[in-house]
Amino acid sequence: MPATNRLIVALDTVDPDRARAWAGAVAPHCGLLKLGLEFFLANGIAGYRAIVGAPIFLDLKLHDIPNTVAGGVRAVLPLRARMLTIHASGGPAMIQAAHQAALGAGDERPMILAVTVLTSLDQHDLHATGVAATPAEQVLRLGRLAIDSGADGLVCSPMEVSMLRQALGPAVKLVVPGIRPAGAAAGDQARTMTPAEAVAAGADWIVVGRPVTGAPDPAAVAASIAASIR
Ligand code: C5P
Repeated sequence: MPATNRLIVALDTVDPDRARAWAGAVAPHCGLLKLGLEFFLANGIAGYRAIVGAPIFLDLKLHDIPNTVAGGVRAVLPLRARMLTIHASGGPAMIQAAHQAALGAGDERPMILAVTVLTSLDQHDLHATGVAATPAEQVLRLGRLAIDSGADGLVCSPMEVSMLRQALGPAVKLVVPGIRPAGAAAGDQARTMTPAEAVAAGADWIVVGRPVTGAPDPAAVAASIAASIR
């Protein structure tokens, strides 16, 4: 599989054996494997190191005071993850601190990706937290803030990718979950795109979880998605 494979498969489980089996099946067909908070909290560094075959996207969505986030980033640098996530709402100093900490790994440093507005939040939820802007306005505001503060890219929904690509230009990395291959069940993802639609809209990488890991043959589904965006 070429190094430019844009498919990221999310290994969302607390079961280390299951995650290892999924990784073995799909790693030859994807660019990265994504490990999230639930896997990392349950299995720690030893569990992380057992997942091999492709570079890792460590999706911890860090959000704390700048000093603590910088310490968290430094703590995981030895794991050589290719991507790490933080919350843009942590503010400019926190984002800069994450960026500076990542530089400690030199050429091998992880990309710092910022999450803007969680897709689980609607206008009503934003208002409840004191944000008067619409979700789209807030995504753009936080996206610009993150990039201006040193983030390499953003995690965004399929519905935001084209707006962010136009507003922020070609250099910003856009990683897009909420993807469903044509014909797949949407599950709890409300607004989805197919892999090819998301790439056409400007995604650098797409994140797919359950349509791959829940399939009878995860390797075949991953290979078919990769082929659809090659
Ligand atoms: O199984 P599914 O394809 O829905 O998995 C999507 C992955 O992307 C999960 O790991 C989920 O946590 C993550 N994600 C998401 N929506 C966002 C941000 C991240 O589904 N807005």
